[in-house]
Amino acid sequence: MIGAEPGRVLVTGAAGMLGSQLLIDAPVGFEAVGTDLVEGVPEAPAVEAVGVDLAEEDAVRELFRELGPFTGVVHAAAYTAVDRAEEEEELALRVNGTVCGVVARACAAEGIPLVAVGTDFVFDGEAREPYAEDAEPRPRSAYGRTKLVGEELAREAHPAGTRVVRTQWLYGPRGNHFPGTILRLARERGELSVVDDQVGAPTTTLELAPALWDVLARGEAGTYHAACEGSCSWYGFASAVLAHAGLDRVRIEPCTTERFPRPAPRPAYSVLACDRLTGLRGRALAPWERALAEFMAGVV
Ligand SMILES: NC(=O)c1ccc[n+]([C@@H]2O[C@H](COP(=O)([O-])OP(=O)(O)OC[C@H]3O[C@@H](n4cnc5c(N)ncnc54)[C@H](OP(=O)(O)O)[C@@H]3O)[C@@H](O)[C@H]2O)c1
Repeated sequence: MIGAEPGRVLVTGAAGMLGSQLLIDAPVGFEAVGTDLVEGVPEAPAVEAVGVDLAEEDAVRELFRELGPFTGVVHAAAYTAVDRAEEEEELALRVNGTVCGVVARACAAEGIPLVAVGTDFVFDGEAREPYAEDAEPRPRSAYGRTKLVGEELAREAHPAGTRVVRTQWLYGPRGNHFPGTILRLARERGELSVVDDQVGAPTTTLELAPALWDVLARGEAGTYHAACEGSCSWYGFASAVLAHAGLDRVRIEPCTTERFPRPAPRPAYSVLACDRLTGLRGRALAPWERALAEFMAGVV
């Protein structure tokens, strides 16, 4: 199945960090229709269908009937509380697993493509070079396990139309994210310790959202990786955020994961090789340093 025809596209998780950016970045010829459990944020286009629990098959059918016909779906709704998922794996599985299957079945019934947003947490982090799209997933956390189930259910329900796009270390103009937390803590405390032994690629929703639209409109079914170019540790990322904010005098120390134990294990190394996406678009996402500079120019 080739990409989505121009027309109405359903964006799930439209009140979230990524979903709200997807609403803003709908390309010419596409009209994004947002759905979420909660209302959208004021700076983004309104979420049209509020309070629809996508785990309910009937509710999804009704949504398609009332607001469709859609020419594609970008599925960004998820249970994203990584640490809480260790204690609520059943709930996380309902949202990250069951919902993916339900949405994929609805797309299959309509014969339209689906972009399902995935995560680097499906990998164990033991690699020493970027994970290819076909690398063996081996999640170590409840969040990673449930997101992997979602990938599998979507592919199973709609093999010809599902594009799983895994991303990582997301931040953007709306929602809670790492740069926002670092800026707050720096101002509150004046000194910080940040983990230096986990490596990934910070990725802005400003870079990711247009790439997801391209995969929906022009990509073939299959698995894609989508992250900004390059890599760094959380310590490296935090240092760059402080420098852009003119907070260079805040003391920042590198520390180990061991010193800050969290309920969910994080992959130590989860850089994603994005060759397939780069091939589709003819260019990679921006290097993370440049994407951060552009983001910080808007917030500082
Ligand atoms: N953030 C990252 O660093 C990161 C990294 C890799 C991949 N991802 C993936 O990227 C996607 C977007 O993440 P994000 O950070 O933008 O997430 P987010 O801000 O948490 O947004 C997700 C939205 O989905 C909604 N939702 C939850 N359960 C639902 C249900 N049953 N039915 C309908 N909507 C539901 C949430 O509502 P509530 O707030 O009311 O629960 C929330 O508004 C997700 O697939 C995530 O797994 C994120």
